[in-house]
Amino acid sequence: MGLLDGLKEKFEALLGRGSEAGPVGAAFAAEAADAAIVEQVLDPAFLKARLEDVKAGGTGKVPKEKYEEMFAELDRAQASPAVGANPSQGGQAYLPRSPEVSMLQSTITDCITSRVEQLFEPMPPGHHSFGEFLLRETEVFRKFGPCDAGWAETVISQGIADLEGKSGFLDGKAPDVGIANDARLVVVGDWGTGLPAARAVGKEMTAKVAEAKKAGREVHVLHLGDVYYSGWKEEYKARFMPYWPVRSADEGVGSWALNGNHDMYSGGKGYFGYLLKDPRFAGHRGSSYFCLQNSHWQLLGLDSAYIDSDLAGSQGEWVAGKQRGSARKTMLLSHHQPFSDFVEVHPRLLEKLQPAFDVRPVDAWLWGHEHLCCEYGPNPESYLRFGSCIGHGGVPVLLDYEGSGSGERKHYPLTWRATNAETRDEHRWQMFGYAVLDFDGPGIDVAYYDQQGGPAVNTARIE
Ligand SMILES: [Fe+2]
Repeated sequence: MGLLDGLKEKFEALLGRGSEAGPVGAAFAAEAADAAIVEQVLDPAFLKARLEDVKAGGTGKVPKEKYEEMFAELDRAQASPAVGANPSQGGQAYLPRSPEVSMLQSTITDCITSRVEQLFEPMPPGHHSFGEFLLRETEVFRKFGPCDAGWAETVISQGIADLEGKSGFLDGKAPDVGIANDARLVVVGDWGTGLPAARAVGKEMTAKVAEAKKAGREVHVLHLGDVYYSGWKEEYKARFMPYWPVRSADEGVGSWALNGNHDMYSGGKGYFGYLLKDPRFAGHRGSSYFCLQNSHWQLLGLDSAYIDSDLAGSQGEWVAGKQRGSARKTMLLSHHQPFSDFVEVHPRLLEKLQPAFDVRPVDAWLWGHEHLCCEYGPNPESYLRFGSCIGHGGVPVLLDYEGSGSGERKHYPLTWRATNAETRDEHRWQMFGYAVLDFDGPGIDVAYYDQQGGPAVNTARIE
């Protein structure tokens, strides 16, 4: 079984119907197009072949050296035992840390999903497998309107231009927003794939929002960042907005979203230009960093992606100022991890926060970026009392996969790690999930849930 159950199952069910697939296909196709991620787009070899098509059919809009960088990245990925489109290729979905290759994934996915109806009507005889179906896609890729090489090259070149002219970072305007002393905060990370299990997480979070409202609690929902592949507005529209637990600004539920590296692979155009302009996210006032505070806590949402694994603008001083200026406990929220038991970490983020740590340690820090969920042991670092990664909202990962880090790295004791899994074809796929924080005066009750609903899979108390 590949990574993208929903779409694949639909295709396979459809293909199993043989020559009668045509009319049935249209019905499946409409749903399949929503699934919005295609397995082959996670396969470096498939991407490389498509990039060759783009280069051969393009008009040189993408500079030669960019093509070389992209081919080199795809060669590295193809050689890596860690990443790919399915378990035979690696334990993690291939989500490159290359803006250009992410753009290629966005472009090809858009092409495929926008043509799904045509692709299904009618299925030619002799096409019985998903793989054969996607070989046929090559033809479509070459011949049809928005899927042709010239178009793909134009989109990628526009993306490269966007990267160079990133959306403006609004500095020094972080809002201070009051929240109730007994507020609920629902937190999910790396959720923006729109996969069926990510939608299930969305549904579960919606239930937790409703439960809090019913109990008369103020409630907020926070995304820790990353809408795949490149954070385009269209990707937000397809994979994020339809499943976000807050349907309207009138519900009185706060919506918050951190910037992630994948959001910046389109220069932040979707994040700054679309998401933060949505009325539900009006509390941001256009700023990608912000403070939520009550009598006991200040929650500082940071932008660690505008500059990758770093803090753009005056955020470092801002956090230090908050540490100095208030006796409230401090919780940091960021896309990137401050440290990890699983991978090596870039030191820049911590360097920028050293002045804040010099004032006093922070009481809690929640982050995503790694596609797993764990609670670290107490006081994992001198600057921190409680740390937890909540990055398992929507990216398929094999549970037995032990990270891609190489070389020496520090290890940390874990209090808990999410290990609920779905077994398919002898592989254990980690369940997607999220966390609920219930503020209780000076303490916070944390409960971790997975996509299946049911009771919490872990609880913790932050004092
Ligand atoms: Fe990330």
